[in-house]
Amino acid sequence: MRIVLVGPPGAGKGTQAALLAKTLSIPHVSTGDLFRANISQGTELGLAAKSIMESGKLVPDEVTIGMAKDRLAQPDAAGGFLLDGFPRNVAQAAALDEILAEWGIELDGVLDLEVPEDEVVRRIAGRRVCRNDNAHIFHVEYHPPVAEGVCDECGGQLYQRADDAEDKVRVRLEVYHTETEPIIEYYQKQDLVTTISALGTVDEVTRRAIEALRKNDDEG
Ligand code: AP5
Repeated sequence: MRIVLVGPPGAGKGTQAALLAKTLSIPHVSTGDLFRANISQGTELGLAAKSIMESGKLVPDEVTIGMAKDRLAQPDAAGGFLLDGFPRNVAQAAALDEILAEWGIELDGVLDLEVPEDEVVRRIAGRRVCRNDNAHIFHVEYHPPVAEGVCDECGGQLYQRADDAEDKVRVRLEVYHTETEPIIEYYQKQDLVTTISALGTVDEVTRRAIEALRKNDDEG
């Protein structure tokens, strides 16, 4: 399966993508995580992305598209992938279509996670992520770690992302509405979009997502 996950910041894309990727045995490809790994490693790409990410704006398309293409070209993504955070505007969606066409493949579906803005703000305000890989995600209230400030999975230190500060979240939501939401219409024209509610427990949302993907697969 080749799936794109869309939704506002804090919708639970990373949380769901990690679980769905395990269930479907396909890699979870998150451009946000790839950028954060580059920042941790101090690469040139990371240095270029850091201040832009901290401001809540989008990293330029040429950097992002090249990075995503390189990741999707890895052997583990040959049998399918779950894209989280990419594409994030219509230009990136068109570039992804071109890349996949060049490789003779296409997307199977786009899962759109719908969450009201007040819930998004609550989820982001309490989010803590693991410094080791940024992929283990917790919430101080909804999904607290066993020991405060320590990752259950690897013992790494938990921290709050710089772009999770309230003023940055406002910018990210604005960017989502103006730049990212139009890709839903772009993919609706290709009849690829299934919208599900991302309210409820993590398990409830996962069940909804799997059901939607199965239905999509049966119809496709
Ligand atoms: P990115 O890392 O992609 O951030 P995002 O899209 O803003 O999404 P988030 O990671 O904030 O949220 P999420 O939906 O994954 O939610 P999560 O699962 O953590 O991008 C960051 C930045 O990188 C961008 O602003 C941009 O600068 C740059 N970037 C990345 N991709 C780019 C691109 N393609 N082009 C250009 N720039 C790009 O969950 C949130 C919290 O809620 C957690 O605490 C979690 O535990 C909790 N939670 C999850 N589900 C539930 C539930 N059902 N009930 C209760 N709590 C829940």
